[in-house]
Amino acid sequence: MESVNAALDRVWPAQLRTGRLLLRPVTREDGSLVRELLTDGRVRAYLGGPVTEERVAARQAAYPTTAGAFTVVRVTDQRPVGLVTIGADHRCEGRAEVSYQLLPAAWGEGLGREAVAAAVSWWTDAVPGGGPLVAVTQKANRASCRMLEAIGMTVVDELDEYGARHCLYTPAVDQEDSDLRWVRLLAARRDAVERRRGAKARATAAGQSLPDDLAALAPEELARLCPARHGAYGRICARMADHTPDLHLGRAQDGAWIAWLTTAESS
Ligand SMILES: CC(C)(COP(=O)(O)OP(=O)(O)OC[C@H]1O[C@@H](n2cnc3c(N)ncnc32)[C@H](O)[C@@H]1OP(=O)(O)O)[C@@H](O)C(=O)NCCC(=O)NCCS
Repeated sequence: MESVNAALDRVWPAQLRTGRLLLRPVTREDGSLVRELLTDGRVRAYLGGPVTEERVAARQAAYPTTAGAFTVVRVTDQRPVGLVTIGADHRCEGRAEVSYQLLPAAWGEGLGREAVAAAVSWWTDAVPGGGPLVAVTQKANRASCRMLEAIGMTVVDELDEYGARHCLYTPAVDQEDSDLRWVRLLAARRDAVERRRGAKARATAAGQSLPDDLAALAPEELARLCPARHGAYGRICARMADHTPDLHLGRAQDGAWIAWLTTAESS
């Protein structure tokens, strides 16, 4: 499959027009927009907080040469109001990720929806073999989640990153079983990464040190065993309530509890 960067090189630069917006490649003249976005506590509330001066300068230099980085311009007053970027997703090779940020003065008017929907459709049309693109956002970032849902994206996974729970969204597709296939594909990719990192050995060692009677464990011990990333390979889950233990918790041949996932059995 063509890499995201190779596909971007092929289809970039691009310019997109919507009812109220123009999305065009970021230029050096957008430096003040980049600064405003990166240093605003509201914009950065779910993105790790305002960044340092050094990082502002680095981003100001990098954006204009980054394929897939659009400045969002409000057509009525020609004001740049945000950025939407499509780039390679660092979590999964070959997959594209869309990210977005608008100045607070432009929030709440549906502009985010308009801009992100345009970028997503552009990518889907321009790179038909590119596979489903993703958006990853903190679960607590309600505006971002609602915006993605409003443009027809659905959550296919949850993950912990930078100390916070995140939702992974992808555009909903027509075929009935596509969502399911996409979830399985993601799980398989994640399993492969986990396996390479030695998850099975770690999980097995941890599982074998568990007592037979899980009820003997204190709640905080159970919580430690189960970081709630259910279904991911190598994560031991020993809680009984609100779970489907047979999916991911089993016993090793010697009878000890062990992380369990059917797709990982052959490793
Ligand atoms: C996410 C963001 C781009 C949304 O832009 P926007 O133009 O305000 O979005 P829209 O107006 O198209 O839609 C926002 C939706 O969230 C809702 N919303 C807006 N602010 C909200 C808030 N503080 N809490 C809950 N919902 C909120 C709106 O009502 C709308 O939902 P609805 O269609 O169900 O009514 C903007 O909030 C932003 O730039 N945030 C900071 C950067 C960021 O967090 N980016 C996400 C990176 S992963």
